[in-house]
Amino acid sequence: MKPADKQAYLEEYELLKKKGKPFFPYAVLKDSAMMLVVVGVIILMSVLLGAEQGPKADPTSTTYVPRPEWYFFFLFELLRVIKPPELVPIATIGIPTICMVLLLLLPFYDRGPERNPIRRPIATTAGCITIAAMAYLSYLGATGGSPTEIDMKVAPQYEAGKEVVAGSGCLACHKLGENGNNGPGPELTHIAQRIPRAAILRSVEIGPGIMPSFRDLPPKKLNELADFLSSLD
Ligand code: HEC
Repeated sequence: MKPADKQAYLEEYELLKKKGKPFFPYAVLKDSAMMLVVVGVIILMSVLLGAEQGPKADPTSTTYVPRPEWYFFFLFELLRVIKPPELVPIATIGIPTICMVLLLLLPFYDRGPERNPIRRPIATTAGCITIAAMAYLSYLGATGGSPTEIDMKVAPQYEAGKEVVAGSGCLACHKLGENGNNGPGPELTHIAQRIPRAAILRSVEIGPGIMPSFRDLPPKKLNELADFLSSLD
């Protein structure tokens, strides 16, 4: 901005400031009144319409797919993309906190009086990139695979077994490649190196320790499951 422009801007600002009313109490009063109206409408709607509560939580369900609200999908996706455990705190706390602090400090590091977006290329570009990145991450988060899917390349004859493992809740306790939880069960990524097919089948049918028994699965599915797991070396 040229010095002359800046001078004109400051003069105009001074003039408007003299004409205007102080923030307190005028704007505070208006905002408070509007806030009361909004809260009143919410209370009225909750009394008249009630809130939908959904089915009661079932702690024994293994088919429930936990999902965040849509406005958290971008954070959810960030967490899914960043896999190494030592980087997880950076994804969950670090990046969002840094962004919030940058936003809070904006009035202090962006001192330019220019308001036209076209003449503020850095701010405009940064804003557009942020919005685009959040939109893209939200889209990926919304369409991403559920924890009952296994993201892993296998030979076609093992696809069926992979689906059985994916659909049976094994990932709640076992890690398989980049999928599933690391524990309480041992990692299954290279299970065939450790135990033979018959032993895998026995574990799945007996359910050693805290592992539930899966002997109620149809024999065909048990076989497909064993074929798949005994191919993982
Ligand atoms: C509730 C958690 C849980 C679930 C669900 C679960 N497991 Fe396990 N699994 C375990 C635990 C814990 C062990 C170790 C048990 C022990 O040795 O005491 C284990 C052991 C195993 C073993 C033996 C591993 C070894 O190295 O000896 C296999 C194979 C196995 N599980 C496969 C599966 C499959 C396949 C499924 C899904 C159909 C499944 N598990 C579901 C907890 C679970």
